[in-house]
Amino acid sequence: MTQLFGKPLVTQEAMRTRIKELGRDITQYYQHKDLVLVGVLKGAFMFYADLVRAIRLPVTVDFMIVKSQLRGNTTGKVKVLTDLTEEIQGRDVLLVEDIVDSGLTVQHLTRQLSKRKPKSLQVCALLSKPARRQIDVNVHYIGFEIPNHYVVGYGLDYQQQYRNLPYLAVLDPKSVEAP
Ligand code: IMP
Ligand code: MG
Repeated sequence: MTQLFGKPLVTQEAMRTRIKELGRDITQYYQHKDLVLVGVLKGAFMFYADLVRAIRLPVTVDFMIVKSQLRGNTTGKVKVLTDLTEEIQGRDVLLVEDIVDSGLTVQHLTRQLSKRKPKSLQVCALLSKPARRQIDVNVHYIGFEIPNHYVVGYGLDYQQQYRNLPYLAVLDPKSVEAP
């Protein structure tokens, strides 16, 4: 699988270093708060597992399974397949996303979660593609801003493949069918 990809766009080493920094920032901000870390699956699973271990605080873990894209392109429709198991009213929620692209998913999820009256609601995304933004969403913690390429690995997929690649790579359009 790895031979499909050339140089990583973000190496495992760079990922580790940046996630430690994010963990430190989050630890500082959420001191004495009731942190609920909400992972958006499937894409965020690997990032989430590393991030939660970089946070030195008591934390409640929870997840949502969301479908927000069709064959590599965002559809603009966001479907919640599995909802949270925890009540978030009055609690400090941090939404953990793999990537903010158009911004539609983050907008949809923050609107839905706000209705449940959390005490606070912030967003942490491993990646952001500013060139693709359609909606000006507020992302409080960003791992890396990346150029406008379709990326895979470290949880991110192309047609449900490549999520297990341990680093982030640009998908080579020549190696797969066009989306
Ligand atoms: P949105 O356009 O900001 O709503 O992003 C929707 C979702 O599309 C993200 O949460 C990702 O799961 C997926 N996505 C966007 N860009 C990429 C990419 O380059 N690689 C893999 N998945 C992506
Ligand atoms: Mg996602």
